[in-house]
Amino acid sequence: MSSTKREADHVELIHLSSMASKPLNLLFFMLLFFHLHTHSSASILPKEAHPTKSGYLPVNATTGSAIFYAFYEAQFPNHTSLSQTPLVIWLQGGPGCSSMTGNFFELGPWQVTPPLDQNLQHPELQPNPGSWNRIFGLLFLDNPIGTGFSIASTPEEIPTNQQAVARHLFIAIRKFIALDPLFKSRPIYITGESYAGKYVPSIGYYILKRNPLLPLSKRVNLQGLAIGNGLTDPETQVGTHALQSYYFGLINEKQKIQLEKIQFEAINFTKAGKWSDATDARLKVLSYLQNVTGLATLFDFRRNIPYDSYWLEELLKTPEVKKALGVNESMVFEKCSKVVGAALHSDVMKSVRFKVEYLVKKTKVLLFQGQCDLRDGVVSVESWIKKMKWEGLQKFLDAKRDVWNVNGVLAGYVQKSDNLSHVVVLGAGHYLPTDQPVNSQAMIEDWILDRGLFANNHIQNLVMDL
Ligand SMILES: *[C@@H]1O[C@H](CO)[C@@H](O)[C@H](O)[C@H]1NC(C)=O
Ligand SMILES: *[C@@H]1O[C@H](CO)[C@@H](O)[C@H](O)[C@H]1NC(C)=O
Ligand SMILES: *[C@@H]1O[C@H](CO)[C@@H](O)[C@H](O)[C@H]1NC(C)=O
Ligand SMILES: *[C@@H]1O[C@H](CO)[C@@H](O)[C@H](O)[C@H]1NC(C)=O
Ligand SMILES: *[C@@H]1O[C@H](CO)[C@@H](O)[C@H](O)[C@H]1NC(C)=O
Ligand SMILES: *[C@@H]1O[C@H](CO)[C@@H](O)[C@H](O)[C@H]1NC(C)=O
Repeated sequence: MSSTKREADHVELIHLSSMASKPLNLLFFMLLFFHLHTHSSASILPKEAHPTKSGYLPVNATTGSAIFYAFYEAQFPNHTSLSQTPLVIWLQGGPGCSSMTGNFFELGPWQVTPPLDQNLQHPELQPNPGSWNRIFGLLFLDNPIGTGFSIASTPEEIPTNQQAVARHLFIAIRKFIALDPLFKSRPIYITGESYAGKYVPSIGYYILKRNPLLPLSKRVNLQGLAIGNGLTDPETQVGTHALQSYYFGLINEKQKIQLEKIQFEAINFTKAGKWSDATDARLKVLSYLQNVTGLATLFDFRRNIPYDSYWLEELLKTPEVKKALGVNESMVFEKCSKVVGAALHSDVMKSVRFKVEYLVKKTKVLLFQGQCDLRDGVVSVESWIKKMKWEGLQKFLDAKRDVWNVNGVLAGYVQKSDNLSHVVVLGAGHYLPTDQPVNSQAMIEDWILDRGLFANNHIQNLVMDL
């Protein structure tokens, strides 16, 4: 496989600016040079920023493969009882991107920033006002094995399909629950972003199929699933880029027709079950769109520079940080693993919509998107919601889309019926919790606790209707 092809394997990865980081690299070494001569090293990860628990959840005793986890207990657990405090699991996309991006760049309690003190050469951490662990326990898993700090004993053991991904995740989640007797009864919500639009339904489906076969004490107490800017039904979603970009004014009619032609190629390969060709065709769609729009990133059409992961990688390369996370110093951190991306290359265009159709009959499901994402945005997700085979669908489509305010300010829109909720978050791209930390927190808290617009007996605001 050529190196370009391998790069292309990264479907939903973060193209964080390698261009922007080069001058920074030079600056970094200059600062390091001065620093070594003038300062002693300060702590990057202060004690209060350490996870409550972190380390490894073995998924294969024979081979030693294991999933890396970092867990942060709720800052304000349920005052009635800790054993009722929800546990939120976060899965990053890629395929092959580390959930440490979610942790330190999006929704964890501490966010990485460039050094605020000019004399420091290392990144710093700042408390996140929008952290998802305010009132819930928050568990980050580097999934599948081979991703981030997770260990794949051999490349052959890395899952190549969603069934295999879910099998490992199920083992890891049960191992995590077994770490503390208080975890057993806590309601579990599985969340994730982008390519986790595949993982989240797949592990949810796996749990609900496996639970009835297990004694009560060994079941996973799954209470809901949430997907942000997800890729779930790729054949449908790949057909939406041309129209979306045309109506955003980003391409003209001629380019729209050309883009539609490439989209059809991806759809045709998918229909024919030519999975690898279909994945490549989808990448061609995104590449064409990137080329003709000249945007800094398709992850957010508003941005004039890409999201920057330089300091995130610096943070996770640091021996002190690895030690605090329970990671062997010899582990080399990769924000996105090319090997994992390659292993799942033929999985990309396979739909898991049928799993969502199964899940929404049994548990609650939240689909949320940042409005400015051109990859897996609002239109992209609505296009497959409409195709769901679910008896509640018509009621959902007929439901009023509510205006959603947070602290008195417009935050987006919520449409909900029965077990399905759909949220559009304004002023956000693909990395929604990075762009709208506080609103993303309000959303996840209200959805989990069935509050506000997510309340089951929510009465629509009649004054607004008049
Ligand atoms: C563990 O590894 C062995 C040897 O590769 C394999 O046969 C087995 O299926 C693996 N188990 C899991 C749960 O992946
Ligand atoms: C706390 O737990 C109690 C008892 O299970 C429950 O009724 C209540 O809704 C929970 N509150 C929050 C904020 O989770
Ligand atoms: C895709 O398939 C349709 C229907 O079979 C056909 O009309 C169209 O020309 C094909 N498009 C491409 C780009 O292959
Ligand atoms: C986009 O531009 C790159 C770099 O010039 C080129 O390699 C690629 O083939 C272009 N993609 C498409 C679909 O035209
Ligand atoms: C770290 O990994 C190295 C190389 O695999 C190994 O020799 C060493 O024992 C490991 N250290 C710990 C503390 O596990
Ligand atoms: C929603 O989920 C509940 C279980 O929590 C189930 O009983 C109900 O039938 C589901 N509703 C629909 C419309 O599928």
